[in-house]
Amino acid sequence: MELPHTLSLFHSSSSSAAATATSMIASTAVATTSRLLRSPSPRASLSLSRAPAPAHSPRLSSSCLRSSPLVSRLFLSQRRPSLHLSATSYSAASSLRCAASDPEQLKGAREDIKEILKSKFCHPILVRLGWHDAGTYNKDIEEWPKRGGANGSLRFEIELKHAANAGLVNALKLLEPIKDKYSNVSYADLFQLASATAIEEAGGPKIPMKYGRVDVSSPEECPEEGRLPDAGPPSPADHLRQVFYRMGLNDKEIVALSGAHTLGRSRPERSGWGKPETKHTKDGPGAPGGQSWTVQWLKFDNSYFKDIKAKKDEDLLILPTDATLFDDPSFKVYAEKYAEDQETFFKDYAEAHAKLSNLGAKFDPPEGIVIDDGPSKPAPEKFVAANYSSGKRELSEAMKQKIRAEYEAIGGSPDKPLQSNYFLNIMIIIAVLALLTSLLGN
Ligand code: HEM
Repeated sequence: MELPHTLSLFHSSSSSAAATATSMIASTAVATTSRLLRSPSPRASLSLSRAPAPAHSPRLSSSCLRSSPLVSRLFLSQRRPSLHLSATSYSAASSLRCAASDPEQLKGAREDIKEILKSKFCHPILVRLGWHDAGTYNKDIEEWPKRGGANGSLRFEIELKHAANAGLVNALKLLEPIKDKYSNVSYADLFQLASATAIEEAGGPKIPMKYGRVDVSSPEECPEEGRLPDAGPPSPADHLRQVFYRMGLNDKEIVALSGAHTLGRSRPERSGWGKPETKHTKDGPGAPGGQSWTVQWLKFDNSYFKDIKAKKDEDLLILPTDATLFDDPSFKVYAEKYAEDQETFFKDYAEAHAKLSNLGAKFDPPEGIVIDDGPSKPAPEKFVAANYSSGKRELSEAMKQKIRAEYEAIGGSPDKPLQSNYFLNIMIIIAVLALLTSLLGN
């Protein structure tokens, strides 16, 4: 991994330390994933003998069951399912396809993701998970899943071990209970659903998503290491173009998508980049530490572009690949625009994010599944993660006590509304009546 060359990039660890840390994290990650995915699910074994269901209801084939690392172990240790099938059950079984996702389950999963976001403040890592599953796409390879992309391959240990994915096992861990609950949502969809939901719940734009992505079924189908971008290559602009053009994305999309760094932090023990902690990250929310690109790193807005341009706060991170957005003449046009105009950034980001989320994906049905609620339904009250960003905090105990004392001094309490002063109210009514009488009398 290349490291930054100047101190102005606020890098804090050596290359070898970073590499060691990364490999330690990766091996911990692998151990955790194995534990996480070990216990066999009764639902999975039951599904093996289930008759096919109609469209848009749970559909699982044995090859799909093998797609789960959990089930693959289970499956390998079993004999193949009996071949003594009746004519009807044989044709039914052969009509089973490798399941994509079920619309009702997708909606349920989305609500559960919102709940996790509220309690864990894990918006950034979920966005990174979706991006790293999709970002392995190679437009020059036609064959699925060789071409990489949003196909759920990132759930396998071999891919999680790639240096670029250090720490992402934590995102998988958060999503695993949801995957267990909604077994007919593919991993590929779950990763992209979690990412788009996180952007929206952090105050970002609505992403025009579709679902129905089919999962790869074995670790052999994972892409080779090295398809994701490096943060400190010798020539950052050339490198970004090489990687993102391979995905079929253009300069505008590179700049817009980089704006996702308005969320989250970099941790030296994961990627080798960033400070161990800053004034913006030392208190969380979520696990404290790391170095953020923005002050309110749980709020999705255009501050990433404003902050890179201003370069005023040494506690904010600027990777070489971030800095180049304002150095390269073509990138700069968009970066300047986004720093000035949040609306344009939101519009371009939403389009680019949706495109990224579809890269390399095989959809079933081919046109995909749209789960957005119709306009007739009233919008539920929105949880905005930004309210919990470091810019806005709960009152300190001292301040709470001061407020309580002030309330008590006038006979009230912050927990109860002040009692009405009936005498004063009656006096006011009498005064108003007297005034009216005298006016009418005249
Ligand atoms: C342009 C090339 C990119 C490079 C070189 C890059 C590099 C990095 C690095 C080094 C980290 C720190 C990881 C850690 O230490 O935990 C990171 C975090 C992150 N990246 Fe990127 N990234 C790029 C593009 C993107 C894109 C396209 C997205 C999403 C659309 C994205 C979303 C994120 C998010 C949300 C985080 C924060 C994760 C967290 O707080 O846990 N990045 N990126």
